[in-house]
Amino acid sequence: MFTVGIITASDSGANGKRVDKSGQVIREIVESFGYKVVHYVLVPDEIPTLEKEMIYMADELKVNLILTTGGTGFSNRDVTPEATKRVITKEAIGISEAIRYYSLQITPRAMLSRGISGIRGETLIVNLPGSPKAVKEALDFILDSLHHGLEILLGKTSECASK
Ligand code: MTE
Repeated sequence: MFTVGIITASDSGANGKRVDKSGQVIREIVESFGYKVVHYVLVPDEIPTLEKEMIYMADELKVNLILTTGGTGFSNRDVTPEATKRVITKEAIGISEAIRYYSLQITPRAMLSRGISGIRGETLIVNLPGSPKAVKEALDFILDSLHHGLEILLGKTSECASK
């Protein structure tokens, strides 16, 4: 069973003005997939805070997968990709390409998400957009392949099986 950390980046969520539905959607989807959520935080859109949480989850909690939601757009406060870039040592660009490829078939607005993905140690980090709808659309498409990627990352399989 893989372990998951969830980070919701939202100024309005962090100051109590909005309920974090997207973090809950991530939890429900990954749990129904058989993963265990071991940590969840709701933080403001600030690079140092996001960076600190990602490093804590990867290096201390050693979660297999960190899923972030929010802060991937064009607003001045959207900085999740910038925080993620500081933390990862390898990019996994195909995951974010896949999210946008699939999402663009649902809405052209998908081009506005700047989310990135990458690896730090034995942790895979994936930025998801902010809305609950976008989170579900992205996860439904990528989870099965993420699972295979995590198995390879953790040395559980050396075979790259195509579907
Ligand atoms: N991706 C999917 N699958 N579905 C969506 O509805 N919304 C887009 C995009 N990606 C969307 C999506 C919109 S409107 C924006 S502005 C960007 O994600 C960035 O969202 P964020 O700033 O909340 O992360």
